Amino acid sequence: SATIDLAIIPGDGIGPEVIAEAVKVLKRATEDEDVRLILTEYRLGAAHWLETGETLPDETLAALRRHDAILFGAVGAAPGDTRVPSGLIEREMLLKLRFALDHFVNLRPSRLFPGVPSPLAAPGEVDFVVVREGTEGPYVGNGGALRVGTVHEIATEVSVNTAHGVERVVRDAFARAAARPRRKLTLVHKHNVLVHAGHLWRRTVEAVAAEFPGVEHDYMHVDAATIHLVTDPSRFDVIVTDNLFGDILTDLAGAVTGGIGLAASGNLNMDRTAPSMFEPVHGSAPDIAGQQKADPTAAILSAALLLEHVGLPAAARRIEAAVEADLASRAELTDARATAEIGDAIALGVS
Ligand code: NAD
Ligand code: IPM
Ligand code: MN
Repeated sequence: SATIDLAIIPGDGIGPEVIAEAVKVLKRATEDEDVRLILTEYRLGAAHWLETGETLPDETLAALRRHDAILFGAVGAAPGDTRVPSGLIEREMLLKLRFALDHFVNLRPSRLFPGVPSPLAAPGEVDFVVVREGTEGPYVGNGGALRVGTVHEIATEVSVNTAHGVERVVRDAFARAAARPRRKLTLVHKHNVLVHAGHLWRRTVEAVAAEFPGVEHDYMHVDAATIHLVTDPSRFDVIVTDNLFGDILTDLAGAVTGGIGLAASGNLNMDRTAPSMFEPVHGSAPDIAGQQKADPTAAILSAALLLEHVGLPAAARRIEAAVEADLASRAELTDARATAEIGDAIALGVS
């Protein structure tokens, strides 16, 4: 039988709560398959940093590389916790992992599942996927500050876009569009202002489009994209965009499709030179952490993306079907369910 060897990083806040449910469902979905699931948990995150001073030691990174895939919860300290510098764990652990493991495709599907209420009055059929670049853009830490604390302070964050980096993510997005029924790709950028990066993205899309004659493509500035995501989200099929625009658009997309507690993602190394990492789009949600109030569905759907990526699409489909059934039943519920109750219901629904 096949062996799937996974690293589990629960992290902080609601991370451990939602990951416990995702693991429950993962086990259930693979027990009838001919696979042996090996799970190794790694303690990383703000709490771990406070105890040990470690963000992501080299040995841990090396150990993580040896797994088939990583399931990640969320990291980040509570805003009032002044002991942890803002964003330290996010940058030195989460982003470091995405960069080191070359997760150049940050895949964020957005679907309005049947029965799920959207805040939009008339959302229509919403089923699109954001292909967010994952290793470049303003996220690379290319910047600095001069004359800090003076009236002459200058702070810069320089967005880095390489021909190689843009081309590989654009090609991936076209390939995804070609495999979807509507075969449509929208480049979202801001080339009216961000001229240099914008033109590299546009030229790349035009060049790669020639390889995919069956895929229709268009362009939208990111500010206008936020309008259309709210007024007419069903117009989108595949969106390809840079790291920061993709971050912002996918929280909005989550809200439009029933809430951030449903939004799943995969940080994919499509060359398979290192393990890919799957995580809910949301963060550690300190405002509801430790209270069993978090919706574990995003983490569970991320586990389904993981199974798909490691070659178990049937198990992935079974999780998605169980999630869909659970979502459809939610309208009839009168009381809020605990995180573990939602996980139990979905695990039970995996057939
Ligand atoms: P957040 O996503 O943690 O929370 C935003 C809002 O959504 C909060 O009101 C929260 O209660 C709600 N929410 C999030 N997940 C939910 C779920 N599963 N069920 C129900 N409600 C949910 O974003 P934030 O408040 O901006 O960030 C909190 C911390 O998390 C920060 O330290 C931030 O840097 C970090 N963060 C980490 C990740 C990650 O690990 N991938 C992602 C985003 C933010
Ligand atoms: C996300 C998060 C991260 C990002 C942060 C925590 C670094 O917001 O996964 O969407 O900006 O990518
Ligand atoms: Mn985000």
